[in-house]
Amino acid sequence: MKITDNCSLKERNTFGIAATARHFAEYDSVDELQTLVGRRAAEDDATPLLHIGGGSNLLFLGDYAGTVLHSQIRDIVVTADEGDYVYVRVGAGVTWDDWVQYAVDSSWFGLENLSLIPGEVGAAAVQNIGAYGAEAKDFILFVDTVDLQTGAIRHFTVEECRYGYRDSIFKQELRGRYAVTHVHFRLSHSFRPRLDYGGIRRALEERGIDEVNLTAEQLRQTIIEIRRAKLPDPSELGNAGSFFMNPIVDRSVFERIQKTYPDAPHYEVDADRVKVPAGWMIEQCGWKGKTLGRAGVYEKQALVLVNRGGATGKEINDLCKAIQADVEARFGILIHPEVNFIA
Ligand code: EPU
Repeated sequence: MKITDNCSLKERNTFGIAATARHFAEYDSVDELQTLVGRRAAEDDATPLLHIGGGSNLLFLGDYAGTVLHSQIRDIVVTADEGDYVYVRVGAGVTWDDWVQYAVDSSWFGLENLSLIPGEVGAAAVQNIGAYGAEAKDFILFVDTVDLQTGAIRHFTVEECRYGYRDSIFKQELRGRYAVTHVHFRLSHSFRPRLDYGGIRRALEERGIDEVNLTAEQLRQTIIEIRRAKLPDPSELGNAGSFFMNPIVDRSVFERIQKTYPDAPHYEVDADRVKVPAGWMIEQCGWKGKTLGRAGVYEKQALVLVNRGGATGKEINDLCKAIQADVEARFGILIHPEVNFIA
């Protein structure tokens, strides 16, 4: 276990916010994590703990007065191979996109549309990452965790994880209670591309790729190119991907919007509800490409807030609030951040 005091978090959050942690602890195994939890219990240490992954969905509003934990559990193990399916246990500290590449290289299929999403495997299972018509939960069977209060190991089935859109039990009533140590995936030996999400078929056509002969690697590379064209690279411009979630609203609310904006983009959720792209609403409010303090709205995708250089968490938060107020005034919808604010 490596523990660093007064550790800079600037390289540990993709917004590039210059916060520090009182302590930063990295562990290599479940045992090491249990030892740390056991020691805290023995010493009656109730100072706050924050478990991070790749820091791609965090906004530090100031320095962190407790211990920041990070997993370096990085094993990838096939636990079963039966019929069309392969079952793979992946360490929480594996970079998500390394895992996707590993799976595609191994001819284990399913994750292609989730290519190039920043972050690590453990956080992907907390946050239920999603893109291009796929979500992490579609491939997760269960999740191994350690209880950060008692050190006990607990397994959660996918049902117990209560996954929803960018949501799980680990973001709700069990927030902060369990650290994910491994995620168990079920992938397929047959490649069944999902191409229905807007833009994929067009991008394949533009690249002269025939759907019938499409390979998983070609689909992965196409998704990577689509993402790169729309989303800023955090090593060049600090950001945390989509800053807000797309709100799911009653159909009547959307029909009211349609009266003013007949071409408003939307996705059907069920008979009563519609998902409205927050990026579109933010753009309609005139925020796309704008700057407030040292925080800004990305020029090519209004759902992404960026650090224009040296921004504080507070400056990003001020921009967030200004956007929320304008979207609510214009559309009557309060949009909620997808990013976790750390006070
Ligand atoms: N739109 C605009 N202006 C903008 C941005 C979007 O009009 O500035 C419109 C687009 O034209 C389109 C619609 O909004 O009609 C949706 O846009 P897009 O396909 O770019 O996706 P999104 O809804 O903005 C979501 C996810 C992304 C994911 C993409 C692709 C959320 C919060 N975001 O964005 O996830 O990559 O779909 O599947 O659900 C992330 O979570 O960090 C993330 C990047």
